[in-house]
Amino acid sequence: MTDWTGGYVADVGYTYGYYGELNPLRARLALLSANLALPKSGAACELGFGQGISANVHAAGSGTRWYGTDFNPAQANFAGHLAESFSGGPQLFDQSFAEFCARDDLPDFDFIGLHGIWSWISDDNRAVIVDFLRRKLKVGGVLYISYNTQPGWAAMVPVRDLLNQHADMLAPAGAGVVARVEGALAFAKKLWAVNPAFARNNPQIAERLKKIEAMDRNYLAHEYFNRDWVPMSFADMAAALAPAKIDFACSATYLDHLPNLGMTQEQLALLDELPDPVFRQSTRDFMVGQQFRRDYWVKGARKLNPLEYREQLRAQRVVMVAPRDSVTMTVKGVLGEATLTDAIYRPILDLMSDHQVRGVGEIEHALREHAIPLASLHQALMVLTEKAALAPAHDEATIAAARPRTDQLNRLLLDRARGSGEINYLASPVLGGAVTLTRFPQLFILAIQAGKASPEEWAAYVLQIIKGQGQSIVKDGKPLQGDQANFDELLAQATEFGSQRLAGLRALGVL
Ligand SMILES: C[S@@+](CC[C@H](N)C(=O)[O-])C[C@H]1O[C@@H](n2cnc3c(N)ncnc32)[C@H](O)[C@@H]1O
Repeated sequence: MTDWTGGYVADVGYTYGYYGELNPLRARLALLSANLALPKSGAACELGFGQGISANVHAAGSGTRWYGTDFNPAQANFAGHLAESFSGGPQLFDQSFAEFCARDDLPDFDFIGLHGIWSWISDDNRAVIVDFLRRKLKVGGVLYISYNTQPGWAAMVPVRDLLNQHADMLAPAGAGVVARVEGALAFAKKLWAVNPAFARNNPQIAERLKKIEAMDRNYLAHEYFNRDWVPMSFADMAAALAPAKIDFACSATYLDHLPNLGMTQEQLALLDELPDPVFRQSTRDFMVGQQFRRDYWVKGARKLNPLEYREQLRAQRVVMVAPRDSVTMTVKGVLGEATLTDAIYRPILDLMSDHQVRGVGEIEHALREHAIPLASLHQALMVLTEKAALAPAHDEATIAAARPRTDQLNRLLLDRARGSGEINYLASPVLGGAVTLTRFPQLFILAIQAGKASPEEWAAYVLQIIKGQGQSIVKDGKPLQGDQANFDELLAQATEFGSQRLAGLRALGVL
């Protein structure tokens, strides 16, 4: 039997994650902040889509034609099952990168995204992807790519090697990957308990191991136990992508666009002295101890003039996705917590609290007596987006065209929520992306769609679903005993759902 995995962990499925950075709509505020022209939205591709939540939600929620591959057949099967639930679903394959990238029936792409891939594949596969980007990313097209970054992983590299050696050499023959992960973690604990010099010289690793201990084992298997695992410096990344004629555009992490949040004035002054953009990014990664970068790159970046910037920014649309009361007036950066300027943020939040979609120009006009400069408004919208208070929104025609598709996909996701809580997302035609929603709120939506009108009825409906499967609600780590206790907890959650979430979800076209 041929080994199709190439050393990649394939015997446990990957988690059901959704990544908003893979939504081309989200790239726009970031690219504009770097003064760069926006890509068109014709065709997009996700390499290594995992369980395919992002690829499906993005295909359902936009007019973009999505393609993608992931060589794990179980994951490709699940992703394909989602894709079949709505008309015009993404074209998803179970091919290796080498097979998929050699296809001659793919269009050229305006957007190509890879999340959590680059650091976990072989040099050969990285070369396949760079060649694909060279041939298939259109001029002006955007690449989203995330990767483990040096110097943030420096001290962890030998620890990961040791964990892997343990898994390879000491795990009992036939032990599954999860057992190998458990064994390796138990060994690391034992090693740290005897206080080796490495632990004394790298005290931060004990904290890291503690965090790892609490993580999902399937995730850990994919993160640490592949044959390939290469944290890369920014300079090496830039060199790797150079043959594809792709240049760094900007960080996809919106808060990185506010350098004051992550660096001191002295650090910023030192960075300002550096003329080379690649060297500046490499040095920045030392300033913030970067471990994971999420970046946008562009083939043939085109700078906007100030008028183009203002016009294009004003045309972007945003919507409030969180309940107004839940939005705190602080933001966390590398240097600690910063307080949001009341005079800028409060009027924006108050205006947007009705969950209506507004253009940036419209917000600027509505808040004119607050005299918020356009650049400050732009920055505030990015901060509020990173805080998951606001999100970029599509135009009305795209929303109307996407709604039947997101309804169809959500029907499948909601139906699935009856039996399990693995997928904490629903598709929004307004966002062209996902809203985060855990199992019980999803089931409350199902109750509403079944004609139930009040929180009491929603709670009773959900109780029937979980009771029928012998499940009960776990609260503070303990299962609640008896129907009444379960109903009371569901009623509390349903009441909060009705008062806090429902209006926002309706505005986002989720129901
Ligand atoms: C760490 S997971 C990330 C999945 C997904 N992008 C996410 O973030 O949820 C890496 C994915 O890449 C896929 N993969 C790894 N090597 C591959 C290859 N050579 N060809 C195709 N898919 C590959 C794996 O099956 C896995 O689903």
